[in-house]
Amino acid sequence: STPARVADLLRRMTVEEKVGQLQQIAVNRMQGDCTWSGGALNETCMREVLADQHAGSVLSGGGAAPAVNTPRAWAEMVNAIQRYAIENSRLRIPIVYGVDAVHGHNNVIGASIFPHQLGLGATWNTALNQRTAESTQRAVAATGTTWNFSPVADLARDQRWGRYYETYAEDPVLAGTLAAGAVTGLQNRVSGRPVAATVKHFAGYSEPFNGHDRAPGDLSPRYLQDTILPPYKAAVDAGALTVMVNSGAVNGIPATGSRWLLTDLLRDEWDFKGVVVSDWNDVRLLHTAYHITDSYAGAVAAAVNAGVDMAMVPPDDRGFHQAALDAVNQRLISKKRLDQAVGRILTLKFQLGLFDNPYVDPAAADATVLQADRPLNRQAATESLVLLRNSGGTLPFGASTKKIVVAGPQADNLTDQVGGWTVGWQRVPDGVTIPGTTILDGLRDTAPAGTTVVGTSSPDDAVAQAESADAVVVAVGNRAAAEGEADMPNPVLAPDQQDLVARLEATGTPVIVVVVSDRPLVLGPANETDALLAAWNPGSEGGNAIADVLYGRANPSGRLPVSWPSQIGNQPLYYQQLPGTNGGVGSGYTPAYPFGAGLSYTTFSTGGVALASGTVRAKDNVRVTVTVSNTGGRAGDLVVPVYVGQEVANPLAPPRRLVAFTKVPLAAGETRTVTLNFPASRLAVTPGDMISTESPRVAPGRYLVTAGESSATLTVR
Ligand code: IFM
Repeated sequence: STPARVADLLRRMTVEEKVGQLQQIAVNRMQGDCTWSGGALNETCMREVLADQHAGSVLSGGGAAPAVNTPRAWAEMVNAIQRYAIENSRLRIPIVYGVDAVHGHNNVIGASIFPHQLGLGATWNTALNQRTAESTQRAVAATGTTWNFSPVADLARDQRWGRYYETYAEDPVLAGTLAAGAVTGLQNRVSGRPVAATVKHFAGYSEPFNGHDRAPGDLSPRYLQDTILPPYKAAVDAGALTVMVNSGAVNGIPATGSRWLLTDLLRDEWDFKGVVVSDWNDVRLLHTAYHITDSYAGAVAAAVNAGVDMAMVPPDDRGFHQAALDAVNQRLISKKRLDQAVGRILTLKFQLGLFDNPYVDPAAADATVLQADRPLNRQAATESLVLLRNSGGTLPFGASTKKIVVAGPQADNLTDQVGGWTVGWQRVPDGVTIPGTTILDGLRDTAPAGTTVVGTSSPDDAVAQAESADAVVVAVGNRAAAEGEADMPNPVLAPDQQDLVARLEATGTPVIVVVVSDRPLVLGPANETDALLAAWNPGSEGGNAIADVLYGRANPSGRLPVSWPSQIGNQPLYYQQLPGTNGGVGSGYTPAYPFGAGLSYTTFSTGGVALASGTVRAKDNVRVTVTVSNTGGRAGDLVVPVYVGQEVANPLAPPRRLVAFTKVPLAAGETRTVTLNFPASRLAVTPGDMISTESPRVAPGRYLVTAGESSATLTVR
């Protein structure tokens, strides 16, 4: 059995070998001159890391890839590293190789690039999201990489924060449900080879000071417990094998050194059994940035004693192994805790089948990865599109639309369309070409014969051409970027793009604005146009998906997973505002488009909310039925959110909280009654005054359960 095999190894391993397991080292240190140069594997470098330091894991973070970046080359590289590790390990212990495949196997040139998580959040489609994770699992497994640092369970609440788009939603139930589905999808065994998911970044990473990535955050215990923690909990409960720690400090304690977070809560309360890995360099940073200790050994001890099992180490750090050895030899870390961490890491390797089946077949990798699951990707991109304006039925295009001008910096721009974390860390590197369809390509391919599609990158030409066109599609947005670089103190559409939209509007030709962006942006004149489509970073099929919606081949069904701001000062921004005394309930919330907004080409009505039982106990499930109708002339998918509010609440609770949702296909004229379930525990609030750290609980009393225009009263006893 696995526990017996792990115990046997622990009995036979030396302290040096055990300490080695705690290290996850960036692949760069095995390439070139053992630092940042990349390229082919270098045996001297591999010896240092794998043979001498017995590293337990390797990662390709930040775009590190084989010299020729193909799936086959990935599989060969991972096999070679694995072979070297096993053959130079006295006990033949394999490594586990981690990647950030956060929207498809985005590390590899030629993989299908799915919409980023925020776009998948806009689909509100749990099953579809899970299928994208399954596709990613197949691709990741085919290259021999068996640990995927995904999904992100942080919340999208501050649009200045650069990693906003990597999250699913501002709402804990929407984000948690999708994150849990991603864990299930990533860890299934469809390819026969499991991959470990990672719930990250635990916890409270998404609300750093001023939205500045990795700045400390101050989150009240009530906000932390009631709002921030539930999505991580949902993903952990889905069986995630690993958790990655928040790089930041919360309430004055760096998460990497928080015993309350990583042990009392995660292990003791939530019963998490897997591996906790730090984020990049964060163990050392306990010493060099946070100064909670005065040495590297002290930092290793602080992290490991808090509950970190493995340290993610950058390639220019030569000192982790010695620091960890010092910590053990100086008894800063007990032998028992060392064995516990190593035992978890070895268990993970057994769960992933790495001891018995360490290699992949490189010959199969290209066929599995290259352009895999394009129809699924196109569906995901299509469902991620949110139609926010459509005055006078501008969309979909009809037979009279004979000339279309396609303009704006995002019209023919695959790099920004796929977004950050694609081949390169920040974005697709210059000079690298990936397959995919831009908006201009998609419109050209989709437009019926006899249509003229004019693509132009010149603003003056676009305006001139617009005069004689039937419609203008102007694709605006922002630049793809990742950690740090993506922070945006003013999340606003660039002035030159606002100006372009205003000039196009002045021509009198109908203007359709497509926003390709990693977050909602304050739009200026682009918010006044005839039609407005939020496209997020829709991935490599994004151009096809957008053309499908503009031409009405697909009926838009996306809904905002986040609130769209009307002013840049509105940060953070989310619908779950507590009541204030400055104008009523939720008075600070004045978005341009609220959470859940989104139009369709048909019309719907939602009514008839009924509860299976009007009185429940706090530990019960609540069953709700909702009657929904398609009152328009064409088929469409309807997102059905169910919210709950409390009539009287002390402490304050948000007047509306999402508790359940589903997405229903409805034919023209069809009426259906759908059933949704949610645990009454979703209504819990941390009780007590000010900084109470009591556990959240559901207050007895009356609640209003609402879907669309209709509500029912629920009593919790
Ligand atoms: O997984 C990522 C994490 O999200 C941010 N820092 C680097 C890690 C590995 O690339």
